[in-house]
Amino acid sequence: MPSLKPLFDRNRKWSADIKARDPKFFERLAGLQSPDYLWIGCADSRVPANEIVGLLPGELFVHRNVANIVVHTDLNCLSVLQYAVDVLDVKHVIVCGHYGCGGVHAAMRNDRLGLIDNWLRHIQDVMKKHHERLAELPDESARFRRLCELNVVEQVLNVGQTTIVQGAWDRGKALEIHGVIYDLHDGLLRDLSVCVKSYAEFTEVYRQTAER
Ligand code: CO
Repeated sequence: MPSLKPLFDRNRKWSADIKARDPKFFERLAGLQSPDYLWIGCADSRVPANEIVGLLPGELFVHRNVANIVVHTDLNCLSVLQYAVDVLDVKHVIVCGHYGCGGVHAAMRNDRLGLIDNWLRHIQDVMKKHHERLAELPDESARFRRLCELNVVEQVLNVGQTTIVQGAWDRGKALEIHGVIYDLHDGLLRDLSVCVKSYAEFTEVYRQTAER
């Protein structure tokens, strides 16, 4: 596989570096993973989950798709969520969007890119829901940034509406859902202040979001 040689070379170096620091690292991980966090983020190559938050393998369970969308019929995303909550017992679900998201931009411009247009319809739904507030913003760039944020907020709400999270809260499990956004320009995460950790909080945040 000569075309992938640089990647295999890097992989060997990476593994050797970790083993040099911690000889038992991989042995320990192979036996068990017990991450506290589930990350639901964009597939964008510029937003690598573990690196951004400085977590090692084993510390972050990850699901990524184009534009970090959580759809209540997406068995892939729901299976990740269910496994993370019920089996791995994660304490936090983090929905991470990012400014400059190509998926959000394509949805906003109604670009015709192919099959993915159907997936991005979910963002167009977010856009329609918040149409009036978005229209009040001064320009396209401000609307783009705000839509990236609103998309995260809506996906936090979608996570909270799943039977998985509602069931976990009903059982009294301590499970927090967070909405954060990453800025490609400075590498920093910003908290969107939509943390929900109970059904009561969820309904309140949902109400506020619908009105904002
Ligand atoms: Co993106």
